[in-house]
Amino acid sequence: MILVTGGTGFIGSHTTVTLQQAGHDVLILDNLCNSRPEVVDAIAAITGTRPGFVEGDIRDAALLDRLFAEHPIQAVMHFAGLKAVGESTQIPLAYYDNNIHGSVTLLQAMQKAGVRTFIFSSSATVYGDPQKLPLTEDHPRSATNPYGHTKLVVEDILENLYHSESGWRIARLRYFNPAGAHPSGLIGESPQGVPNNLMPFVAQVATGQRPRLNVFGNDYDTPDGTGVRDYIHVMDLAEGHKAALDYCQSLPQALLTTNLGTGKGYSVLEMIQAYAQTSGQDIPYQITARRPGDIAACWADVTHATQTLGWTARLGLEDMCRDAWRWDQQP
Ligand code: NAD
Ligand code: UFG
Repeated sequence: MILVTGGTGFIGSHTTVTLQQAGHDVLILDNLCNSRPEVVDAIAAITGTRPGFVEGDIRDAALLDRLFAEHPIQAVMHFAGLKAVGESTQIPLAYYDNNIHGSVTLLQAMQKAGVRTFIFSSSATVYGDPQKLPLTEDHPRSATNPYGHTKLVVEDILENLYHSESGWRIARLRYFNPAGAHPSGLIGESPQGVPNNLMPFVAQVATGQRPRLNVFGNDYDTPDGTGVRDYIHVMDLAEGHKAALDYCQSLPQALLTTNLGTGKGYSVLEMIQAYAQTSGQDIPYQITARRPGDIAACWADVTHATQTLGWTARLGLEDMCRDAWRWDQQP
């Protein structure tokens, strides 16, 4: 059985589907601070198997002890956390508490229970402002906001833990920009309030919930002046997690650090155009000032993941837009 923290969230729910379809039992632990319990029904509808679900918090040590005592958990995939860069500058303590204290509490419970396989959601944000592209895993790390800092710190905690005792099998997966949804249209990304990220915002413009998109700057040193990112289909990301789990479970101990991206970058304008074409909707936009803290361009070198895990992203921009649009039209 795999314990999936944050399993009703965007990436955790899609990964749960992939894990179940690969034959794993899944137990989800989520406090629902950024997701809804109906996601469990949707996962069951897709896979035909209902994952276990516990509404609870990763900072609740007594609850964790009980879960490890009562279930045959072999590995933990740790998605739970707060993820809004802007918000993290306003309420940094909530970010340090959830993302760092939460991860430490979870690791302590695992250590007590003798469960030592851990897959962690890190982020390309740990590379800071890229010094060279594509980004390889040995690129220097830095953080410009509290959210990014929590990812750096947890990456370091995991390295310390790995070296402190034998038998830990740890993967630090650095995601680029997840997009898309499950092809069934039953699960996808549901941001609360005003979306921070590009694609959910584009979707709300396409469906008429918002009049237009603000494009944050067109004076970057990129082909069309707008920001370039490596968008990866969330189902490819889910497959990457399964590959990382298989890799870890095949070894007596492991500390894997790898990018999960496609290796290709698309600009904001290219994303708008692709989504408009797939959806058949107009996406009105206006160019506004740069968003503070944004970088010009960021995409992954995927050689390490390909060579180590035998995994590469299979789905492209069209798949991301098509699957996102199917989900985005749900009432
Ligand atoms: P999400 O908000 O959709 O999912 C996170 C889930 O964790 C939510 O369901 C939320 O309710 C739950 N949660 C939060 N704090 C919790 C706590 N203390 N205890 C229990 N549950 C808790 O986010 P996501 O996009 O699926 O991201 C998953 C992970 O991937 C996060 O750690 C995030 O930082 C990381 N990540 C995301 C992106 C991205 O762009 N989406 C990029 C890089 C890394
Ligand atoms: N953008 C707009 N308008 C919007 C939203 C975004 O023009 O309304 C632009 C941004 O300026 C950027 C691009 O679209 O050029 C992508 O922005 P996102 O907010 O979707 O993604 P980021 O690359 O800024 O950040 C995301 C996650 C971070 C994570 C990072 C790297 O939000 O948590 O990817 O993985 F750290």
